Amino acid sequence: MSFTIVEPAPARLNRSELAVPGSRAELFEKAAAGAADTVFLDLEDAVAPDDKPRARRNAIEAINDIDWGGKTLSVRINGLDTHYMYRDVVDVIEQTHGRLDLIMIPKVGTPADVYAVDMLVTQVEDAMGRDKRIGFELIVETALGMANVEAVANASRRNESLHFGVADYAASTKARMTAIGGPNPLYGVLTDSDGDGPRDFHWGDMWHFAISRMVVAARAAGLRPIDGPFGDFRDADGYRAQANRAAALGCEGKWAIHPGQIALANEVNSPSEKEVTQAKRILEAMEEAQKSGQGAVSLDGRLIDIASIKQAEVMVRKAEQIVAAG
Ligand code: COA
Ligand code: MG
Repeated sequence: MSFTIVEPAPARLNRSELAVPGSRAELFEKAAAGAADTVFLDLEDAVAPDDKPRARRNAIEAINDIDWGGKTLSVRINGLDTHYMYRDVVDVIEQTHGRLDLIMIPKVGTPADVYAVDMLVTQVEDAMGRDKRIGFELIVETALGMANVEAVANASRRNESLHFGVADYAASTKARMTAIGGPNPLYGVLTDSDGDGPRDFHWGDMWHFAISRMVVAARAAGLRPIDGPFGDFRDADGYRAQANRAAALGCEGKWAIHPGQIALANEVNSPSEKEVTQAKRILEAMEEAQKSGQGAVSLDGRLIDIASIKQAEVMVRKAEQIVAAG
């Protein structure tokens, strides 16, 4: 282990994160009553410029008046390149009473972007005499943000999670995305032309590098990596496949842009009963091993060691959180 100890962000369930446009107040109660672990009220790109002030007022009212239960509640503020951002931060914190958990910062490019919002949030919180410190969710969705992703991840003690914003990332990098967060039929390999058999075309995942890069930066800083949107909300199989591959790479949650995607995200990002049982068995076996002075032992013919304990502990803790969330 390195002498550098990575402090993990507060352990919140973040299997599903529902996006709700701040301009559509009629959706808020449904979002609060639904099964998403986290809800973010959007003041940014789902809201047209003329609607910005109204969306901000809606979000403030919703934070104050709606019972959000045990959900993590977030607001996506406008980008630092807009003149909406300062008022998003100031008004939302000043005019709410401590229920807000997180602020989502879109299109983060440099550590200084995070620093600037931290400074503003800190001033408002101090002026209001708040003890609770609002955490940050950062969307990695530009070439600049990805180029600086490690520095960005470490830019504030408020940072809790990194999110892969696939649509803006494609626009920023000029990648040829065909559907938001979906696969691209142009991205693949054709099998060899040797021999006379037919050649196969194998689709690849054009987001593999970007998600992996973000996952490593997030984990190295103790943050949660979260996969972003999948636009075709009627395609449950497509959503599940993309959520599974993000989870396989280390993400612990995915956005839902429609209520129909929440259960899918929760399902993919929850450990199965079998996995939890196995994790408990690993912990028991390791406890026995440690009592008898062994560092590595076998369970069902497979090696388990100290690294297995860490994984097993994380899984058991998550399973407990899921039960507690109901
Ligand atoms: N949060 C809460 N409830 C939502 C919702 C959301 N994001 N999106 C839809 N619903 C509700 C609808 O109001 C409807 O409720 P009802 O059955 O009581 O009438 C139900 O879920 C089914 O919705 P549906 O009619 O299928 O969708 P829609 O046409 O109303 O909306 C979208 C489709 C994509 C416009 C909408 O889901 C949306 O705005 N999503 C968020 C987009 C966003 O925030 N993007 C920015 C981040 S990428
Ligand atoms: Mg975006």
